[in-house]
Amino acid sequence: MLLCILTLFPEALQPYLGTSILGIAQAKGALVVRLVDFRDFTRDRHRSVDDRPFGGGPGMVLKPEPIFDCVGWLERRYGAFHKILLTPDGVPFRQEKARRLVEKDRILLCCGRYEGFDERIREELEWDDISIGDFVLSGGELPALCVTEAISRLLPGVLGDERSAETESFEAEGLDHPHYTRPRVWRGREVPDVLTGGDHVRIDAWRAKRRTERTLDRRPDLTNEQTNERKNDCEDQGS
Ligand SMILES: C[S@@+](CC[C@H](N)C(=O)[O-])C[C@H]1O[C@@H](n2cnc3c(N)ncnc32)[C@H](O)[C@@H]1O
Repeated sequence: MLLCILTLFPEALQPYLGTSILGIAQAKGALVVRLVDFRDFTRDRHRSVDDRPFGGGPGMVLKPEPIFDCVGWLERRYGAFHKILLTPDGVPFRQEKARRLVEKDRILLCCGRYEGFDERIREELEWDDISIGDFVLSGGELPALCVTEAISRLLPGVLGDERSAETESFEAEGLDHPHYTRPRVWRGREVPDVLTGGDHVRIDAWRAKRRTERTLDRRPDLTNEQTNERKNDCEDQGS
């Protein structure tokens, strides 16, 4: 997958993109990331990407031309992109969306700053508007990293064991179950016996029950009939 991030601050993204799973995804060739500074597509001598808002008010607004020219240049060079605009008024980003984005060959993420984008760039190009939550950050760089990382760990061959992605929170079964490692006893707290007994049928049943309980307790909005049915099954089996 080719993923281009349009940003005014490429240097802020570079270190994180080289770290851990994102670095591995690129080293394995599953992901190619290009950081593109859309200031390079300005035509005036001040290289201005923003200007005061028509109608008055605080802050500055991103001008449409540099972003439009930057996207045009990238699409002429690489072909069409699935274009994502990072914006608080977008559709909240979810795991199922990350799963759908993995199918794309080329993704472009556009990071805003200041008061955001001139509305006409939103109208002129076809964007998939994404928000990473109901809060406002100063720029789209952290949202771009969130989306990039969520996608990268789903690309085939990137995670050492692909089962880890399949059993995590927000996949088919709501939230993840609790995890434990050594030591077996820590500050008087013992690892549940079932996890050390080696009976994988019982372990799977215990984990399924914990997933269901945790989902019902913390995120009842994620529950559906299937989850409630599983809870009843677990209770019937006495796990
Ligand atoms: C200060 S924000 C602009 C906020 C905008 N005036 C509003 O109230 O919706 C600047 C940029 O940060 C990014 N941003 C901030 N919060 C975000 C969020 N929750 N999700 C996605 N992008 C966000 C967007 O790219 C946005 O254009």
